[in-house]
Amino acid sequence: MSEKVTAQVRENGSIRITGTVDFVDAEGNVLETKENFSLCRCGHSANKPFCDGAHKAAAFIAPTYAGPVKA
Ligand code: FES
Repeated sequence: MSEKVTAQVRENGSIRITGTVDFVDAEGNVLETKENFSLCRCGHSANKPFCDGAHKAAAFIAPTYAGPVKA
């Protein structure tokens, strides 16, 4: 049974992952398992793909809307 994982887009910041996630390579090998972390979506983190808080100094501005792009 797998645990439900939540991805919450934060206003002007990261995507907060709540739950446990396996990071796997192209062959399906588990490289790392992490619990409760934030992914960078601003592009300024020195620790990509994880957020290191650099979005604040970069004054990253983004909406919280996470659905498909509307034309
Ligand atoms: S979203 Fe936090 S460093 Fe990019």
